[in-house]
Amino acid sequence: MKLFLATRNAGKVREMKAVLDGAGLAEEVEVVSALDYPHVTEPEETGSTFAENAHLKATYYARATGLPALADDSGLVVDALDGRPGVLSSRYGRDDTERIERLLSELAGVEEDARRSAHFACAMALADPDGHIVAESEGRLDGVIAREPRGNHGFGYDPIFHVPELDCRLAEALPEVKNRLSHRGRALQAILPELKRYILIARETQP
Ligand code: IMP
Repeated sequence: MKLFLATRNAGKVREMKAVLDGAGLAEEVEVVSALDYPHVTEPEETGSTFAENAHLKATYYARATGLPALADDSGLVVDALDGRPGVLSSRYGRDDTERIERLLSELAGVEEDARRSAHFACAMALADPDGHIVAESEGRLDGVIAREPRGNHGFGYDPIFHVPELDCRLAEALPEVKNRLSHRGRALQAILPELKRYILIARETQP
């Protein structure tokens, strides 16, 4: 049986596979992603919340592939910017460097750490092959936007996201450390029991 990860973001695929492997799911299912299905076009992310976009992606990819699909919608929510970039996080610039530069320039006049607070948010949804949502979850990681990038791990805004409980940037944390406490790691842990139950039932009822 295959489980489809509803994303083309290689960073997300890497992190989600690592958590699913750690939970013993690699023996139960073959984990594939939109990177393995280049002919399937991406849906337009028209939702105004992370949960809406996660639903939309899970439903779309499940129907397009005929596989159960696990979708993540995530982003960075900066308090001093009224929640921007939020659901537009992946569209805040042409690449990670440009997105980070834009965010830092928008926060240029914001001096104290307390006013540079932010969090990563993640919503997850699991759809069956008919596109019905069978489980959903959320996760969050609080931090502070640093003044310059640092670190080589992770992806996206990780180099400018300072995590107080680690006292380092998210891009300086080892992958297994990030997966344990990140918004995505927490959302995945929260959906795991229902994902395992779904896989068990699907396997028992498969012809
Ligand atoms: P999505 O594909 O619409 O969910 O966009 C998610 C975007 O949010 C990514 O392209 C990144 O810019 C940002 N993002 C989400 N999760 C992370 C993370 O764990 N680290 C850094 N940036 C992230």
